Amino acid sequence: MTEFREVQATSDRELLGPLPQFIDLEAGYGVREVKSPTGDLLWLVSDYELAKQVLRDTRFSRAEAVKPDAPKVAHAAPSPESMTSMDGPEHARLRRMVAASFSQHGIVSMEPFVLGLTERLLDAMERRGGVVDVATEFATPLALGVLSELLGVPEADREQFTAWVDVLFDLTVADSADTRSKRLRLVAYMTRLIKAKRREPGEGLLSELIQARDNGEALTERELVHLGLTLLMAGYESTSGQIAMTVAELLREPDRFQALAANPDLAPVLAEEYLRVNPAASISFPRVATEDVQLGDVLVRKGEGLIVSLLEANRNPDAVQHLAFGYGVHLCLGRHLARMQLASALRGLARRFPTLRLAPGQAITWKSVEGARGLASLAVTW
Ligand code: HEM
Repeated sequence: MTEFREVQATSDRELLGPLPQFIDLEAGYGVREVKSPTGDLLWLVSDYELAKQVLRDTRFSRAEAVKPDAPKVAHAAPSPESMTSMDGPEHARLRRMVAASFSQHGIVSMEPFVLGLTERLLDAMERRGGVVDVATEFATPLALGVLSELLGVPEADREQFTAWVDVLFDLTVADSADTRSKRLRLVAYMTRLIKAKRREPGEGLLSELIQARDNGEALTERELVHLGLTLLMAGYESTSGQIAMTVAELLREPDRFQALAANPDLAPVLAEEYLRVNPAASISFPRVATEDVQLGDVLVRKGEGLIVSLLEANRNPDAVQHLAFGYGVHLCLGRHLARMQLASALRGLARRFPTLRLAPGQAITWKSVEGARGLASLAVTW
């Protein structure tokens, strides 16, 4: 196993692209008050140990944070019926029902698909030749293809499905009639898919989820539809952004990409290091204190909101493991699947295109900072 330190990244501010305005890499590690784009005041926690405390302490509630008058970090609020918006036994029940399917062992059934799709996307890049956009032609179709497979979206529906899914992430547009109708159509589609899978359970993760039981009790239709939407919201942009940003960082340090090309088995170790320095989710979801809590030097009052700056916490010199997938009861459910995709993507690119490099004269462009971080384009050649 390669030592962590051997691949320690040197990622600096410039490589991070645009960040939410309240992230401050020079502020030092602690707890500070910040103003979010909605004008709300929240505590931002950047100290590593305090960050872990916030993420595991049940006095900091997710359910309170999705209520209409809670302090917010963005205008769009996740559904209270999503697992990410629940606390305590309600959250634990839902999570328990799907945990086995998402475990390292449970996702083994997805591996042939992930590896196969990686190869097909690399084949298409090779056929095209010249300058290829790794963000839109590799990272995004990989992440979306994996989620479509997981949910059982038939090949013929995938283009339409992508168009609907994209509206979920457009947090910048006001809630127009058009986006609302697309969202409704996505929910209707997801309901149909789940009904079909229920009638004819096949292979794969969704069928496993449909059959999941907890003390004999199964997920209801409504819970399955919400789970499907939650997985899309949580697993698409984050994974596609993480893959594209990691490739960009590697290509900006050509020695590092060369090392990967010489030894593609370095892929998981490198992926882990870039998750630490450059996580797609730079902040956690907000939490709200359900009572007064002393947090380091700060007394957080009941009703006040908090976010964890995962990006800053990961950079504390005393951080022993990164928090790119969160920590505590809401620790990312899809982390093994995300890691599988990252490793497959890096290994595949390095094997197929050992001379891969940034296309000369073409700038890397970033997505807006509203949602998960990621790249709008990453032009490469080989
Ligand atoms: C590199 C890609 C990914 C990153 C960086 C990431 C990051 C995170 C983080 C930081 C959290 C915790 C947020 C908090 O507690 O405030 C989280 C939760 C979650 N993630 Fe991921 N994620 C990724 C990929 C995925 C994928 C592929 C899926 C599913 C297919 C997924 C599903 C979820 C779910 C369902 C939760 C909520 C868990 C709960 O509330 O118990 N994620 N993710």
